[in-house]
Amino acid sequence: MVNLGDVFPNFKAESTIGEIELHSFLGDKWGILFSHPADYTPVCTTELGKVAKLAPEFTKRNFKMLAISCDNVEDHLGWIKDIQAYNCLSGEFPYPIIADEKRELAVKLGMLDPDEKDAAGMPLTARAVFIIGPDKKLKLSILYPATTGRNFDEVLRVIDSLQLTAEKKVATPADWQAGGNCMVLPSIPSAEAKELFPDHKVHEVPSGKQYLRTTPCPK
Ligand code: BEZ
Repeated sequence: MVNLGDVFPNFKAESTIGEIELHSFLGDKWGILFSHPADYTPVCTTELGKVAKLAPEFTKRNFKMLAISCDNVEDHLGWIKDIQAYNCLSGEFPYPIIADEKRELAVKLGMLDPDEKDAAGMPLTARAVFIIGPDKKLKLSILYPATTGRNFDEVLRVIDSLQLTAEKKVATPADWQAGGNCMVLPSIPSAEAKELFPDHKVHEVPSGKQYLRTTPCPK
């Protein structure tokens, strides 16, 4: 398992664009690695199509995208044609898919779903999302079972929060959207908060404690 803040393993793997070494593939960019149970499966076909459609949004946020599925490169290349046809996409597929036939990465990264097995009884990969920062450290991970497709608009929303909070001394509240009001970090003393966030507001609460401080989203 990789924990938040750990340097993400610099694995080598075969993919639809040849061998990839993770860290050099990412270079100085952010990375999203998202896993899939198997090729030629319906939910995965919608997910990979959705991420391909969102590719300009990921690129805008300085991201490189990388998928992984428990089949070989030949299957991936055939499946990409189905993904493009079903999702009305054409041209070059915008990100590589790693082949993890032996489940080596799935095991190493703690991505197996014990409830879902292939025809040979081998456990399939769950739907993991790993967000890796330019420092190669894990910034976020989520894990869904194979039977539940992910919401990649939510992944973009989370990325906006990760990138903002990596730079500014704020945290983002429930259901925050890019540009919305933020919370001043509880660790910031009030004198510093006044300096950093001159328009922030302290909200009165029954406890009398001054921890609810909202500010317009810093630029
Ligand atoms: C799917 O992608 O549709 C799927 C894969 C494995 C188990 C359940 C659903």
